[in-house]
Amino acid sequence: MKATHQVAFCAVVLLAAGFGASRLSSRESAPGAPQKNAAPAAAPQSSVERGRYLVENVAMCEECHTPRDSSGNLDESRRLQGAQIWIVPVHANPNWANNAPALAGFGGYSDDQGSDVLEKGVGPNGENIRQPMHIYHMNHADAQAIIAYLRSLSSAYPQ
Ligand code: HEC
Repeated sequence: MKATHQVAFCAVVLLAAGFGASRLSSRESAPGAPQKNAAPAAAPQSSVERGRYLVENVAMCEECHTPRDSSGNLDESRRLQGAQIWIVPVHANPNWANNAPALAGFGGYSDDQGSDVLEKGVGPNGENIRQPMHIYHMNHADAQAIIAYLRSLSSAYPQ
């Protein structure tokens, strides 16, 4: 029994040594090659960057919160500064919101209020957000990243 343990222990040590050596040699043979555990190039570097990625590429907040020009294109000079809603429901919906408020600067909301909107779909007035705004169920880190990003934008909102 004891001998088996010693053999097993030796095997572990040898394996570990071999692993270390092979890592070393692979690094030596390919200097400058990307390391296995290096972050992928496109990975967001900070909370603000992650928030920007979520806002622009995943949750598409701009589709409703940025006004459009006369051709219906997003007016990037007024990015996330609040907009009239241009989509209408197929079936009449008395609870439909016609306006999406400004988000740039996020001056009108505390972090907790922002979290409630993005994690629970509840507005600062304690009521469910009206359509066509989505009821998002984001995780806390994503919501915080979005809030950090919105706060980093220059604001058109009274602070
Ligand atoms: C499909 C359109 C749409 C999209 C996409 C959208 N919103 Fe909205 N948002 C609205 C509308 C409409 C309202 C107003 C809702 C209301 O009056 O109840 C609103 C309201 C809000 C409010 C204010 C809630 C309140 O009660 O004061 C916040 C904050 C908000 N949106 C943040 C976001 C963020 C952040 C994103 C992206 C993650 C986003 N929205 C994406 C349409 C949208």
